[in-house]
Amino acid sequence: MEKERKKKGPRISLRFKWTFFITTVVFFIYVVFSTTVLYFVSSSMLKNEVNTIKNAVSAVSSRFEDSEQLLSKRIVNDKVEGLSDAGYQDTLVEQLKRSNLQVLLTDINNQTLYKTQDIKIDSKKTDSLKITKLYKNSNIDSLAGSAPIKSTKTGEIIGYVTVNNKMSEYHRTIRELYYELIPNAVFILILSAVSGFIFASFVLRRLKLINNTIKDINESPDSDARIPHQSQNDEITDVAEQFNEMLDRMQQYANQQKEFVQDVSHELRTPVAVVEGHLKLLNRWGKDDPEILDESLSSSLQEINRMKNLIQEMLDLTRIEQPDNQFSNEITEVKPMIKQIYNDFKVLHPEFIMNFDDDIRGEAWVKIYRNHLEQIIIILLDNAIKYSKDRKEVNLAISRNENYLEVAIQDFGVGISADDQDKIFNRFYRADKDRSRQSGGNGLGLPIARQLVKNYQGFMYVESVVGSGSVFRIELPLQNKKD
Ligand SMILES: Nc1ncnc2c1ncn2[C@@H]1O[C@H](COP(=O)(O)OP(=O)(O)O)[C@@H](O)[C@H]1O
Ligand SMILES: [Mg+2]
Repeated sequence: MEKERKKKGPRISLRFKWTFFITTVVFFIYVVFSTTVLYFVSSSMLKNEVNTIKNAVSAVSSRFEDSEQLLSKRIVNDKVEGLSDAGYQDTLVEQLKRSNLQVLLTDINNQTLYKTQDIKIDSKKTDSLKITKLYKNSNIDSLAGSAPIKSTKTGEIIGYVTVNNKMSEYHRTIRELYYELIPNAVFILILSAVSGFIFASFVLRRLKLINNTIKDINESPDSDARIPHQSQNDEITDVAEQFNEMLDRMQQYANQQKEFVQDVSHELRTPVAVVEGHLKLLNRWGKDDPEILDESLSSSLQEINRMKNLIQEMLDLTRIEQPDNQFSNEITEVKPMIKQIYNDFKVLHPEFIMNFDDDIRGEAWVKIYRNHLEQIIIILLDNAIKYSKDRKEVNLAISRNENYLEVAIQDFGVGISADDQDKIFNRFYRADKDRSRQSGGNGLGLPIARQLVKNYQGFMYVESVVGSGSVFRIELPLQNKKD
């Protein structure tokens, strides 16, 4: 095989591609979703934590702001620790501790007056409340809020308060979220990979059925393997059905070809055998016997003539079976033409009573190539004459309705049985082989006529009673005006 094969890339199964694609998409969606959730949770919690600091700062400030003096260790101790068992003051510190807040109080010189144990940040002198974020490894770790304490009496700054918020609630929630989201991510990854794989396998199994059938057909083109019926109704089913139909058509076509060749060889066998017989006869002793010579030559010529006709008819049939548009625009005025054929037949068969019944006023144009219509009518008239017996009469009638021309050809001959009426349009079929053969028939006349009528979107019918005669009718579309 010299055929140059198209270079193919490395083979990657659809199963893998689909699985990969679905997994990636699902995972991507999950990551986007998780990030969004994380972002909103953390930013709203952060807001809460900032509020906590603000509240704590103002709560601490309000504890001292009624003092006129600058803050000192004594005042602070009095207000915070000195009165530790005196109820509400204590509640403040406790409250702060409980909310995980650390407090640092400094005087106006930034000297520490009070701090909860674990505080690690420095105080800042500021004019107003300032919130700072403290980072660890580029993640927010804690928040610090610093504010001046102003005496409500003097309006002067008497000290500073700094509150540190370690945000343990925030960190815990974020951590928990991570613990939820990351295992879920793995789960989703596996789930989407598995479902993608199953889905792909499912679709591929059906493609595989198609592939198997194609392989079978490739191995033995005559095999009647077909893609099994699909219970789903989707695009793959469409492909499968179309493919099956195509196979049916192709095999039907191939069978027809085969039959045709068989039929043709069969048809040719008899005339060839007859000619051969005569030639042998002549070869042996006929050369010198003018009587045998004469008879053999004329018989052989007759057979050769048959073969010639047969070949011509087969050619005609094959040609018209291939739709071509060569004559599709031809139109023909039928009346004079049919009249002409009628006259010819009358001359050729003087023993027949021929009637012509013309029901059409004016002209009648039909979309058909003149020679083709001629051929159809000759085939039918020829049969009518050939298959007449005692009553030698043939009626030819033309009429029209709005859209169609109708031609009817009637004889009173042998007729055709109901069974045969279905078969006479098949190639080489002859109800009475001998009779047909004697009159030079090959069984191709009606198939040719019918194919021609079909090519021009017409119809053809037969009505017949055995022993009484037959009527063949054809209908052909009329062209209303010659334009
Ligand atoms: N007018 C008819 N009356 C009776 N039988 C007919 C008539 N026309 C056709 N047939 C039958 O149909 C068969 C096929 O016709 P046709 O295709 O013209 O082939 P052929 O005339 O070569 O035998 C004929 O052999 C004959 O048996
Ligand atoms: Mg015929």
